[in-house]
Amino acid sequence: MSIGQNIPHDSSRGHVSGGSVFIDDRLLTQKEVLILPVGVPAASGTVKNIYTDIAAQQEGVLAVFTAKDLHHNAWGTIIPEQPILVQDKIGYYDEPAVLLVGTSMEALLRARSHIKFEIEKSEPILSIDDAIRKNSFIYKANAFVTGDVDAALAKAPHKLKGEFECGGQEHFYLESQACIAYPLEDGQIEIHSSSQHPSETQHVVAEALGLSLHEVVCIVKRMGGGFGGKESQAAPFAAMAALVATRMQRPARLCLSKDDDMMMTGKRHPFKNFYEVGFDNDGRILGLKAHLYADGGAYADLSSSILDRAMFHIDGAYYLPNAHIEGSVCRTNFHSNTAFRGFGGPQGTMTIESILEDIAVYLKKEAFEIRELNCYGVEKNNVTHYGQKLDHNPLPELFARIKKDSDYERRRQEIDVFNRSQSGYIRGLSVTATKFGIAFTARFLNQGNALVNVHKDGTVQVSTGATEMGQGVNTKIQQIVAHAFGIPPQDVKVMTTSTEKNHNTSPTAASSGSDINGAAALKACVALQKRLAWLFQHIIHGTPMNDIAECPPLEDAQLRLEDFIFSGKELQHLPTKQTIAWPDLVKRAYLNRISLGEYAHFKTEGLGFDKARSMGTPFSYFTNGVAVSEVQVDTWTGEYKVLRTDILMDLGRPLNPGIDRGQVTGAFIQGMGWVTTEKLYYNKDGKLLSHSPTTYKIPNIQDTPREFHVHFIENNENRQNVHRSKAVGEPPFLLGISVWTALKDALKYRSGKTLPYIKSPATPEEMLMELSRYE
Ligand code: MTE
Ligand code: HPA
Ligand code: MOS
Repeated sequence: MSIGQNIPHDSSRGHVSGGSVFIDDRLLTQKEVLILPVGVPAASGTVKNIYTDIAAQQEGVLAVFTAKDLHHNAWGTIIPEQPILVQDKIGYYDEPAVLLVGTSMEALLRARSHIKFEIEKSEPILSIDDAIRKNSFIYKANAFVTGDVDAALAKAPHKLKGEFECGGQEHFYLESQACIAYPLEDGQIEIHSSSQHPSETQHVVAEALGLSLHEVVCIVKRMGGGFGGKESQAAPFAAMAALVATRMQRPARLCLSKDDDMMMTGKRHPFKNFYEVGFDNDGRILGLKAHLYADGGAYADLSSSILDRAMFHIDGAYYLPNAHIEGSVCRTNFHSNTAFRGFGGPQGTMTIESILEDIAVYLKKEAFEIRELNCYGVEKNNVTHYGQKLDHNPLPELFARIKKDSDYERRRQEIDVFNRSQSGYIRGLSVTATKFGIAFTARFLNQGNALVNVHKDGTVQVSTGATEMGQGVNTKIQQIVAHAFGIPPQDVKVMTTSTEKNHNTSPTAASSGSDINGAAALKACVALQKRLAWLFQHIIHGTPMNDIAECPPLEDAQLRLEDFIFSGKELQHLPTKQTIAWPDLVKRAYLNRISLGEYAHFKTEGLGFDKARSMGTPFSYFTNGVAVSEVQVDTWTGEYKVLRTDILMDLGRPLNPGIDRGQVTGAFIQGMGWVTTEKLYYNKDGKLLSHSPTTYKIPNIQDTPREFHVHFIENNENRQNVHRSKAVGEPPFLLGISVWTALKDALKYRSGKTLPYIKSPATPEEMLMELSRYE
């Protein structure tokens, strides 16, 4: 029984002992070369000339490549418009333009300064406001419309009009973008990449070099973190390495330094959202009108899908009877922004959480009660603004329980008293929720495949399109397979991901890695179970070995799979109580020439969203949770601490509660970092200045909540997903927002008659400036 057990992450020992192999840990092969990409020193304009001759003559430089060496120089998951290397038009500062190749990184770094660019600069667009002014857009979404928002706003007793702004976020994975390309026979290429999306990497490499897909294999052992940053953006670097490898017929390694990675790759989308909300005397939202603007950066990348997800999540956990939501992606001269845990969901949900705080202050009411009042219902008020009905909605229960478990009401009273004490500190307390839609909103991505091979000793290898980035997908798949055959998890190995075994795969993203690939693996296991049970049935009947015919098609096999249980390393036939040991069964199958390997394809059922009307069922189900955070702010410096956080989540029946706890804790801290200290600084020319940990502040251990409670509710109602589990990767990221709303709550104790206004991230500097406005 491996399902629901806390078996350790399959790399836990390797990660702490150093045994885990990341891309740059791969041993150098003979003749292997290193690649240093060099970026352009301007955010916009045209490259007239690149002078590489002197750099090429430097000691240790073997070759130099530029855009003209590529067969095809435009990639992009949705719109193929982004150059792999700058051709002429510049998209952003430090955009890769030149590849320096040699065998010593020191030599390449020395040579880098000898590359000279002749650039005709133009005025860059460096903010959402500027993009709106200049009508610079990548995408405009179809509006989401429900009810009659103008009528609702006209009738509403109260209205608030405002804007909400949040910044970008660096992924800060520990392993930067990295890949090695090995040239093979016949012009084929094998690429090892730190990528969430091996199939896309294969595709971009093939296209860039003018190869067919069957000539390229992409292999992913693991990533040292991805967080969305390697969903699309691992691919162009793989194409650079593949170019060098094929041209030089030598293995080629491209591992970005932290600084280069931060400067060259995209981040979370900053958003600026304008809204008007109408509500009644109790604080019930009657209508919401909003326009979301995302900063897409220089190229389309995944921005349109990210904006869509922001629009899907503008409701947060709250019922909107009337809504009109519009959205646009701006084209600016920043690195092309990309997927990041939550994929636009946080930027949507944070808007409504901010609005609810404002409504509470405006009506002088407790924000928790305003949230409970607006929360989606179980029997009524349970249809989203895009027409999807919530099934077994646990949100009211989650709110009620966290209020009790976190001792909310008593702490609110204590905080009211504390904040009158003139201690120089103020405290704030806030609850927020996550209701995260699970499924890729692009319907075709909700498919996966798996290959399960049972070996003659009874041990099993399983391969899927899922990539391991620390989130534990391998361990969950290992558990699913071990459980299916009733064997211990250590008898199952999840193998390296490769497009050779699993093709046409979707990225490991949208939190659905274990949902899709776990379900595909289970499907393959069930087919094998049927074959093995059929064989056992013959053995029980005493059919002579030579007479056991070819296994019939499974539907004709006249088999009641319910009569068999695979458990305790044996197969039992319940009606006769006969058993056979697992290794014996496997051996008998082999000797009877019964296939011990199975490939299965899985697709998520029940999805249907009409893009033209913005109505339907984009999601398979929702993962829900709530968090209460308490902060203390030093009013003299703006510095703050999170005193306590309580989290309560519904994860159905977790496949591995220990791994899920790690996901919830880590996602919360990462979300908290986004809304508090992680601020990106650019100079007036658009060059990123905060490109290392010395200038970009992610949370450290002292920043985590002093008291931190993480609990799950029991939910057996979820039938949508494999073994009744729920996806966990992204949903708890949104709970970090509770730290930001708690900071906003603290400010209300000093803001007098005005509503507190704070951007995100609410850095200590921002807090201090806002406090100084009240004096
Ligand atoms: N956890 C770790 N340790 N490292 C990561 O890179 N990525 C997150 C989440 N949890 C990530 C992580 C993101 S953005 C997603 S979409 C999911 O994991 C992807 O994996 P899953 O679908 O298997 O949950
Ligand atoms: N979520 C995450 N990644 C994605 C999605 C999505 O909905 N669509 C395409 N890539
Ligand atoms: Mo996650 S942002 O869907 O890779």
